[in-house]
This record gives sequence, structure tokens and C-alpha cells, in this order.
Amino acid sequence: MYSNLKITRVEESRLGKIDLDNITFGTLYTDHMFVCDYKDGAWQTPEIVPYQPIMMEPSARVFHYGQAAFEGMKAYKDEQGDVWLFRPEENWRRINFSSRRLAMPEFPKEYFMEGLETLIDIDRDWVVPGRGNSLYIRPFIFASEAGVSAAPATEYKFMIICTPVQAYYKGGEVKVKISDYYSRAANGGVGATKAAGNYAASFHPTNKVKEEGYQQIIWTNSTHEYLEEAGTMNVFFRIGDTLLTAPTDDRILDGVTRKSIIKLAERDGLHVDVRKVGVDEVISASRDERLMEVFGTGTAAVVVPITGIGHMDYHYDLPKLEEPYSIKLKNQLLDIQYNAAEDPFEWRYKVDRK
Ligand SMILES: Cc1ncc(COP(=O)(O)O)c(C=O)c1O
Repeated sequence: MYSNLKITRVEESRLGKIDLDNITFGTLYTDHMFVCDYKDGAWQTPEIVPYQPIMMEPSARVFHYGQAAFEGMKAYKDEQGDVWLFRPEENWRRINFSSRRLAMPEFPKEYFMEGLETLIDIDRDWVVPGRGNSLYIRPFIFASEAGVSAAPATEYKFMIICTPVQAYYKGGEVKVKISDYYSRAANGGVGATKAAGNYAASFHPTNKVKEEGYQQIIWTNSTHEYLEEAGTMNVFFRIGDTLLTAPTDDRILDGVTRKSIIKLAERDGLHVDVRKVGVDEVISASRDERLMEVFGTGTAAVVVPITGIGHMDYHYDLPKLEEPYSIKLKNQLLDIQYNAAEDPFEWRYKVDRK
């Protein structure tokens, strides 16, 4: 052990009382959680404790200045009952990237990996087997220090909680509306981080497109000429046989699923073009019937085929394909995540039984 991780277990697991076949995403948490406090300029002894409420002062800075960032990752159970993580170091790297941008302290890699692995090992029975089922893992950090002066806090909490999930978007159509007014991110801003405030700012514009019958918004750059992300997913467009996706920059989240899908597509010999994707280009490709597919990628939903796009007052339906790239790439990724295929890129990480 690197960090003298302290473990306090529940007396009795809640698992026996729960119907894991009927769960609503994010409503139910596993028996334990990970917590580590930052104070006096250092991370203190990390702990795994029973899942429970935390006490906070009303003046805690997170409530006032929004110093908070999070991650989203999953654990998967294979047919032998072993539990796997997918590229966990990428999430560690990204939460520290977010923390730096929000003037919060970075969390040591050894603490993160040891805390994560031990927590998932202890709560491994909560990882529901079967495709589409998994344990969603939510690491997060926030300013816990009391005091309402507008300055970075000197005290923080880093926590990990876990919630069992079934497939995220359960079937159904996903139609997206291209934003021609709201922006999610700005050059030099925090769009590339998982700052909590990014999500708060996205809810109102997303509610607006929902009123129009769309499920998600496609975020565009500030002039609304380029397509950047779809809701909380990165987004790919297939024009002819070429897959297009925007390059990551200050505004776009460097998605773990996005970069994995790019690798898998390239391995399959598909032509992937990482470059700015124009709204006009996609709309005219749709009019000319060259727009074959649009799909979102993200940890929660993996790969989500989009069935239609709205822009201004027009709606464009995507063709129904026999063998879309999206489904082929999704299955390849799931095979790796669920330990049902070779892992040529060494993305899988086994959660050892202690
Ligand atoms: C804004 C945004 N874009 C993209 C993604 C996809 O990232 P990942 O594939 O790492 O889950 C997420 C989800 O984490 C997100 O919140």
C-alpha cells in the first residue's frame, strides 16, 4: 500500500435487499465510498468508509464559487466473474487536468489507483454481469473549506462513489439539435475540463431543445459554424466512407471513448479525419444523401447512433443502415471492455481480488 489507505467496512451489505435488475441510473449507491481530505497543503490519509452523507458548512466554497470537477468511468464484469476497468489512468490524468484549471490540488496517482481498485474490489458484487450492465464510477473533487471570500480554497475533498447501471439510453431514438445560439465553451475557457459548472450551464439549453422534441444538443463553436460535441458526448459524422470528428482543444473534452473509437476505426482500415467539422458541410452532405451516420461517444452510453439532426427550422433524418460503423465499433469496444476479445492496445485493467 502506498497511502496507508484506511478501510471501514459496512456491517451488512445492502445488496441483499436490492433488485439489481430494476435500477434507475444514479439512484442507488454501493456499500462503500472513498474519501480523502486535502488540508495544510497535503492530501491526508485516504479512507474507504460506508456510503453516507457528508457534513458541510453552508459557506463551503464549492457552493459559492463552484470549484468542483468530476470524472465518469465504469467497471465491467466478464463471463468468469472477473471485474475490469477501462483505461483508468486516463481518468486520473483528466481529473488532474480539470483540477489544475480550477486552481485545485492534483490528486496523486498512487492514491487514485489504490483507492479506486480497493473500492471496486470491496464492492465487486455490485458490478452486474451482462452486456450493457456495469458499475458507473464517479470520482470527484470539490472545495470543502468554509468561507465566502472569492479565492481558491485551501481545503478540498476527493471522493469516489459508485452506482450500478444498466444500458444508458435504453433503445429509442436519439435526435439532436444543432445549437445556433447557446455555447458550451469558449477559447481559453474550461470546456475541455469536467468542471461541474459546465454541466449546470448545459441544462437550460438542453431543456430548450427537449421542448422541440430533441434529446440532445449539438454544441457548436462561438460563431455556430462548427460542430463540437453532442450533449455530454463527443460526436462523429460519417460522410461517404470517411469518419469525421473535431480535434480536441480548449473547448472540447478529450473523451476516452472518442480516442478509443478512433483507434479501433483506424485498426479496421477506416478513414478517420480529425478536423473541424462545418455545420454547412454536414447539412449539405445530408441533403445530398452523403451523410451516412452521426454518433455520439462517451463512457455512460458508449456509442449512441443519432437518428436525426435539427438545424434552425429544418430536420434531417439519417438513413437506416444495415451495418453501420457505429454498431460495429461499439461492439468491438464492448468486447474489449467486457474481456470478450483480445486487448491489443492494453486498455483493460483487472481489479485484483485482495
Ligand atoms: C462534455 C463531454 N464530452 C464528452 C464526454 C465523453 O468522454 P468519455 O468518453 O471520456 O466518457 C463526456 C463524458 O465524460 C462529456 O461530459
